[in-house]
Amino acid sequence: MPAMAIIGGQWGDEGKGKVVDYVAQKASMVIRFSGGNNAGHTVVNDKGEFRLHLIPSGIFYPGVNCLIGNGVVIDPGSLLEEVDHLNERGVDTSHLVISNRAHIIMPYHTLLDGIEEDARGDDALGTTRRGVGPAYVDKTARLGIRAGELLDKKDFLDRLRFVLNNKNQLLTKIYGAPPLVLEDIYDQYCAYGQRLAPFLRDVDQMVEEALQQGDLVILEGAQGTLLDIDFGTYPFVTSSSPVAGGACIGMGLSPRRIDIIVGVFKAYTTRVGSGPMPTELMDKTGSLIRERAQEYGATTGRARRCGWFDGVAARYSNRINGFTGLALTRLDVLDILPRISICTGYTLDGKPVDGFPASASIMSRCRPVLEELPGWEAPTSSIRRFEDLPPQAQAYVKRLEDVAGCPISLISVGPEREQTMVLSPLI
Ligand code: GDP
Ligand code: IMO
Ligand code: MG
Repeated sequence: MPAMAIIGGQWGDEGKGKVVDYVAQKASMVIRFSGGNNAGHTVVNDKGEFRLHLIPSGIFYPGVNCLIGNGVVIDPGSLLEEVDHLNERGVDTSHLVISNRAHIIMPYHTLLDGIEEDARGDDALGTTRRGVGPAYVDKTARLGIRAGELLDKKDFLDRLRFVLNNKNQLLTKIYGAPPLVLEDIYDQYCAYGQRLAPFLRDVDQMVEEALQQGDLVILEGAQGTLLDIDFGTYPFVTSSSPVAGGACIGMGLSPRRIDIIVGVFKAYTTRVGSGPMPTELMDKTGSLIRERAQEYGATTGRARRCGWFDGVAARYSNRINGFTGLALTRLDVLDILPRISICTGYTLDGKPVDGFPASASIMSRCRPVLEELPGWEAPTSSIRRFEDLPPQAQAYVKRLEDVAGCPISLISVGPEREQTMVLSPLI
């Protein structure tokens, strides 16, 4: 079997955790390839509800190896807390493996994420303040510290001394903050290194072996295409590449290996943090969706902005990722609405806009062209076959397929594993 990437098609929180957990039943490996603990992936199963931030959503299957790839930035404190929490709740984590090439989030990253956000004032990006952006900055600036380096105490001390000197200049001279103490960080991170040691290894070989055996390998996306550092609504984006292409470099996998690319979309749109969102609903319907769906961030608890399904963004996302099929989640949330709109285009100053604008400032001035469809006003969460959905719900799904330009292979009508219907096999 091939590698399958499961990618957020919108601004994150599409239900990737639920979809990965569902598909992982057939997999031998699930790999996170980008982002950090800015992600919050919810999985609901017989053990309860779990919010995973760094650990892949396949962790609940003891036979599924769960890998954290080189493209992820790891806050060791957060990761170990997650491991402990899962263990306390009876979930085994001995099948977790971490790439020794993954970069480590250091205390100065988290500190700088907050300081830089505060310094932006009204122009704040609304980051999760988890240090993810600053850690990627250091990776690219070649000032990063990788997971494997924590194991070599002498080299780690030299490297940390060098990097911390640079960071303390920034903290004290630019931001007027107190400097961080080398010994404190060194001791804390050496202790983290000891606890992480059993999980750390070269992982690319493992993936190759699984693929050669014909196993299904899942690449679990974090964030979403519209938060991508290149293709998202820059600068209101995250600092990594959550798109399908990111799976190759975030794991060390040839593009030829990824045959299936599933785009996960909510049946409407949400966004956390700042930046343009043309279909945002600032009215009662937006609040109704938020409250009914409990649209509050799985990581920061912030209220998610809610709006209609954005077909322009979906088409764009489909093109960037080359989806082979879509997973549509949260259809049940719309059960109560008498009328539902889909955005089929944007206008700017009354004129149609071609495609998805590269500029966030242009995008913030775009208005959605909405097409209104009748709602179904009937419960769908116990339905398991497409044919059994109310005709209006079927028509809505079909119209989303047309607008996005890709077939919908799977529909989710509730957070639980079995609240899923398969329209066409993903594999
Ligand atoms: P992710 O970051 O893409 O994994 O998504 P999140 O976990 O942040 O947010 C998705 C939320 O929707 C979670 O609370 C899920 O439990 C929930 N969810 C997923 N699929 C469905 C669905 O089909 N219906 C409903 N009502 N909730 C869903
Ligand atoms: P999952 O994997 C939704 C958003 C933040 C902010 C922007 C930059 O659960 O879908 P960052 O901390 O990454 O520098 O913040 O990106 N963001 C997310 N929004 N879901 C996520 O992850 C997100 N990860 C980051 O809210 O607007
Ligand atoms: Mg999430």
